[in-house]
Amino acid sequence: MTADSMAGVHLTGWGAYAPSQVLTNADLEKMVDTSDEWIVSRTGICERRIAGPNETTASMAAVAGLRAIAVAGLEPDDMDLILVGTLTPDYPMPSAAALVKDAIGSKRAPAMDLAAACSGFVYGYATAHAYIASGMARHVLVIGAETLTRCTDWTDRSTCILFGDAAGAAVLSAADEPGGTLGIEMTTDPAGAYYIWLPAGGAARPATEATLAAREHYMKMKGSETFRMAVRTLGSTSLRALEKAGLGLADVDLVIPHQANVRIIEALARSLGFPMERIFVNVDRYGNTSAASVPLALCEAVAAGRVKKNDRLLLVAFGSGLTSGAIALQWTADPAASARAGSIGPGDVTILPGYLDPVNPFPPALEWLLDRSASASASSSHGGPKLEEGSLR
Ligand code: ACO
Repeated sequence: MTADSMAGVHLTGWGAYAPSQVLTNADLEKMVDTSDEWIVSRTGICERRIAGPNETTASMAAVAGLRAIAVAGLEPDDMDLILVGTLTPDYPMPSAAALVKDAIGSKRAPAMDLAAACSGFVYGYATAHAYIASGMARHVLVIGAETLTRCTDWTDRSTCILFGDAAGAAVLSAADEPGGTLGIEMTTDPAGAYYIWLPAGGAARPATEATLAAREHYMKMKGSETFRMAVRTLGSTSLRALEKAGLGLADVDLVIPHQANVRIIEALARSLGFPMERIFVNVDRYGNTSAASVPLALCEAVAAGRVKKNDRLLLVAFGSGLTSGAIALQWTADPAASARAGSIGPGDVTILPGYLDPVNPFPPALEWLLDRSASASASSSHGGPKLEEGSLR
C-alpha cells in the first residue's frame, strides 16, 4: 500500500487499561536468582502489572475498547468491525473478540482475533485500515490485549522478568480530511519462528500430563537471537513504512515502538541515527505487554502531551513469528478528547460466563501479591498509601 491509495483513514479514538497489581524487580529477587541491577541494566524494566483473579484478556480489552470508543465520540454500535490482537485469548474458542463484543454492548459488528503476537495491534491496525480503505467498514475498533503472566514460567529467570499484562485500543475511522494513515509495512520471517514460542496446548503438542510436567505450557525464548533479529527488523520495517509514506526519518515527530527491552529501543535508535528524545519509552513501568504494548504507549504519550495535532508518528512492533509491522501516520485528533473516557472503568464491563464452574486463573506463584494488594487497600481506606486504580497513571 502506498500513500496515494490510503487517503482518509484516521485514528480517532484511543484507550488503555492496566491492572492495579504491581510486581517489582525487588519482588522477583525473592522468586528467582536475579537482581534489580541485572534486570534494569539488561532490560530497563523496573516493574510490571499483573492481571487480578477477576481479570482476563477479554475483560481488560473491553475496558480499553470502551475508552477508545468514547474518546472517538462514538457508540459501540458505530463499530463495523472489532479486532483483538492477542496471543493469550481467554479461550482458544470462542475468540476474545466475541467476548469483547458482548462486554461492550456491540450488537452488530463482526469480531475476530488476530494472532501476530507482539505485532498484534499493528497487524490489527493494518487490517482495519484495509477494511476502511476498501469501503467494507467506516469505524473499526482495534485492540491489543494480553495476560502473558498466565503463560509465564515463574521459575525461569530468563523470561519471567520480562512480561506484564495490559490492554490498549484505537478506533480507526474513515474521514475526508488530510493526514491519517500514510504508510504501512508488515513482514513475517519464519526463520525466527521458534525464537519465542509456547510449545504445548496446540494441535502439534496437545495438552497431556507429560507436557504439563515438562512445563511446556509456558513461553520459551531464545533471548539473544530474538534481540538481534528484533533490532534488524524494527529498523527495516520502519524505513519501509516511511518510504511508502513518502517521508524520511527527519519528518517523524515521535516513534512509538514495541516496549520489549530499552536496549532494543536504544539499538534501534543507534542503527537509524534517530534521537532517543523522539522515541517514547514506558517499558520501565509495564515490561513487555506484547500486543498491548504499542497502544498502551500511545495512550501514555498522548496523556504526557507528547502527541499534538498534525504530528507524524511511527508505530513499530515485532513479535513471535517473527512478525514485524510499522505504521506511519499523521495525527489528526484532538489529544484533549482523552477526557471523554474519564469515567469508564472495569465496573462497566461484564464478560459473558461459560457454563463450567469458574476457576481462579491467577498464577499460584504470585498468590502472595494478592494478600499484599489487599492489605495495601485496607490501609489506604484508613488514610495510608493508596494503591493505584486499575488504569493508567
Ligand atoms: N537475572 C540474572 N541473570 C540472568 C537472568 C536474570 N533474570 N536471565 C538470564 N541471566 C543470565 C544468563 O543465564 C546468562 O548467564 P551465563 O552467561 O552464565 O550463561 C547471562 O545472564 C546472560 O544471558 P543472556 O541471555 O545472554 O543475556 P542478554 O543480555 O541477551 O539479555 C534478555 C537477556 C533480556 C532476555 C535479552 O536477550 C532480550 O531482551 N531479548 C529479547 C527478548 C524479547 O524482546 N522478547 C520479545 C518477546 S515478543 C513476543 O512475541 C512475546
